[in-house]
Amino acid sequence: MPTTALRQIQRPLVVASGRAHPELAQDVAKELGVDLLPVSAYDFANTETYVRFSESIRGADIFLLQSHTAPINQWIMEHLLMVDAAKRASAHTITAVAPFLGYARQDKKGRGREPISARLMTDMLRTAGADRLMSVDLHTAQIQGFFDGPVDHLWAMPILVDYVRTRVDVENVTVVSPDAGRIRVAEIWASKLGGGPLAFVHKTRDVTRPNQAVANRVVGDVEGKDCVLVDDLIDTGGTIAEAVKVIMAAGARSVTVAATHGVLSGPAPQRLADCGATEIVVTDTLPIEASKRFDSLTVLSIAPLIATAIKEVFTDGSVTSLFDGNA
Ligand code: R5P
Repeated sequence: MPTTALRQIQRPLVVASGRAHPELAQDVAKELGVDLLPVSAYDFANTETYVRFSESIRGADIFLLQSHTAPINQWIMEHLLMVDAAKRASAHTITAVAPFLGYARQDKKGRGREPISARLMTDMLRTAGADRLMSVDLHTAQIQGFFDGPVDHLWAMPILVDYVRTRVDVENVTVVSPDAGRIRVAEIWASKLGGGPLAFVHKTRDVTRPNQAVANRVVGDVEGKDCVLVDDLIDTGGTIAEAVKVIMAAGARSVTVAATHGVLSGPAPQRLADCGATEIVVTDTLPIEASKRFDSLTVLSIAPLIATAIKEVFTDGSVTSLFDGNA
């Protein structure tokens, strides 16, 4: 009977990666026990990008991984082209997996006549054909509402907390937010590390000068404490290096830094190595080449989290259950 035959159709799980961070895609595929779909991708002489899936993906639930690292615009374009190719190849569902979503920092108009670039990013992915978006620690949670479809917003916090807990004296911890905007996140960190006190750095920024922040002073009790300074990303390292210095100047015993995304542009490795932090902990949502690594840098794998989330989505399970067990 045709109806019985139709009921027996099982959709394949397919994972494919762009060229930005193939190591992470390999790790995710390994966790899932699947092979990455072969993709042919190259650049024309004028820098236009070409992509093609080497095997049929008709009817598949396809997960397209691309970390938006430098050269960021090239890798975003490649991501969009992969989504478009999947749509035109009759994939059943298309999930754009951007462990680090480019332009997420530009999520509002700070001044007149600016774009809202994070919104444009999500619109482009949707227009290209993405049914859903998966990302880790978006700059602000409300970016989920920019994408007109389901968003799986994963938190690296459980991975970072589990590691940091083994590296500090949890009886003597103060969690520090690098600015007033991230206090709520620091509060959750503090509760997971045993409920110690909170502090934040009073930071000011000149909006006309990118990547320049001034850490003025720390507000809260850090004297004699093992401070855990938490942020979503480290780009040039200015915010974190300045914050570590003011925290140490205020009498902290040590500072451990935990951030999800190690962008580590330009002077970041040197600044971080020299800032006085005991350890800088990030995940590998972005590739961190050997030349950017330094002794006090620890890079944790984000692959198990992404793989588990993909499995939950594919099997119609619960992504929420991965965080605090709320189904
Ligand atoms: C700011 O809101 C972010 O959370 C980061 O603190 C900031 O973008 C890091 O940039 P940088 O490392 O260049 O100071």
